[in-house]
Amino acid sequence: MNMQPVTLKDKQFKPYIPADELQQIVARLGEQISSDYAGKSPVFLIVLNGAFMFGADLMKHIDLTCRISLIKVSSYQGMQSTHTVSELIGLNESIENEDVVIVEDIVDTGVTMDHLLGTFKDKKPKSLAICSLLFKPDKFTKNFKIDYIGKSIPNEFVVGYGFDYEGYGRNLPCLYSVKE
Ligand code: IMP
Repeated sequence: MNMQPVTLKDKQFKPYIPADELQQIVARLGEQISSDYAGKSPVFLIVLNGAFMFGADLMKHIDLTCRISLIKVSSYQGMQSTHTVSELIGLNESIENEDVVIVEDIVDTGVTMDHLLGTFKDKKPKSLAICSLLFKPDKFTKNFKIDYIGKSIPNEFVVGYGFDYEGYGRNLPCLYSVKE
């Protein structure tokens, strides 16, 4: 596997989490969710664009009868959170009285997820859980519980495996962190 540094626009990124480690993390999350939801039929809401690769891999490890919706919300520009959240699109089905699992790429400040939680709670699901591949505890400003965390990371900007820097890098199969 190519684990050389990569350049995206004006920034250099160094290898951070290799693809095989990511796959182990994703498999563990999938097995945990499958076991916790045994006998239930949850609805998975995969948050685009960032969670497209993680979501696709995660679903291969979900051993349940379930539905999947791809939803979209955006709060980020460049390497700084803008703290503004745009409207939610893509949720075209009712989640009332359903067990819902939100699948996110990362919880950073938590602003995006906090907004999503508010939006979804209004739709009266039976239960609402969060599965995030990454978590940056040092940046977190909210106090909701994250039910499934792939890995907690320091306050570093990452790209690859769905994560982007100004739209670039999502296709990389492993994670890279920015070189300061
Ligand atoms: P939050 O609202 O601050 O929690 O930010 C959430 C969103 O910011 C995520 O869904 C990502 O799209 C983006 N984001 C946060 N940290 C990073 C990063 O290190 N690399 C790329 N995108 C990030």
